[in-house]
Amino acid sequence: MTALAFDVYGTLIDTQGVVSLLESYLDEDSAQQFLNRWRDKQLEYSFRRGLMQQYQDFSVCTKDALQFTNNEHNAPLSDEQQESLLEAYKSLPAFDDVKTALNKLNAAGVECFAFSNGSTSAVTELLENAELSNYFKGIVSCEDVKSFKPNPDVYQHFLSKSGSREQNTWLISSNSFDIIGAHAAGWKTAWVKRSKEAQFDPWGVNPTITVGSLTQLIENIK
Ligand code: LAC
Repeated sequence: MTALAFDVYGTLIDTQGVVSLLESYLDEDSAQQFLNRWRDKQLEYSFRRGLMQQYQDFSVCTKDALQFTNNEHNAPLSDEQQESLLEAYKSLPAFDDVKTALNKLNAAGVECFAFSNGSTSAVTELLENAELSNYFKGIVSCEDVKSFKPNPDVYQHFLSKSGSREQNTWLISSNSFDIIGAHAAGWKTAWVKRSKEAQFDPWGVNPTITVGSLTQLIENIK
């Protein structure tokens, strides 16, 4: 049985969704720059906490990264504005291709899971808000192992929870660090490259497939 493990933030759910709120506080260019830095810092904090074995919920990485980014930009955002951004982060929109793709995969009987650094409760809330919950057989959170992707333990944890074998398991992600982590764990991988600018880390590892949209998964997953 083939199991698909969908990364959540940046793959199913668009972290750019807070940009319009940010643009009400900052000019357009600064808002985009701020958002990119915030996202990079959020991931950096998760990597560092994983390495240090000093786990905190992913939402703490998100909050601390926001504070860092704000400080770095000479604190243009008030505490209330930062709170509003963190609230908005709990109900980010899905990318346009998600529902169509999941409908097709569900109809074909492919088992789909959400697999995220985010806590089970945060991912449950996100998927509910984006009306995606019914498409998934389950949510597997890195929270259970108190670490983050790309620690091999979290990919192993997914296999234990889903009951799938690595050779039949696909990681579907826009994040190249996640694809490389799943590849190292012996999984198949689909890198979702939605924009021409997206770069894959030059580590000498290639994704099993690269798709421009999740709707291309159904004909490429075997
Ligand atoms: C996640 C982050 C890595 O959802 O995007 O796991």
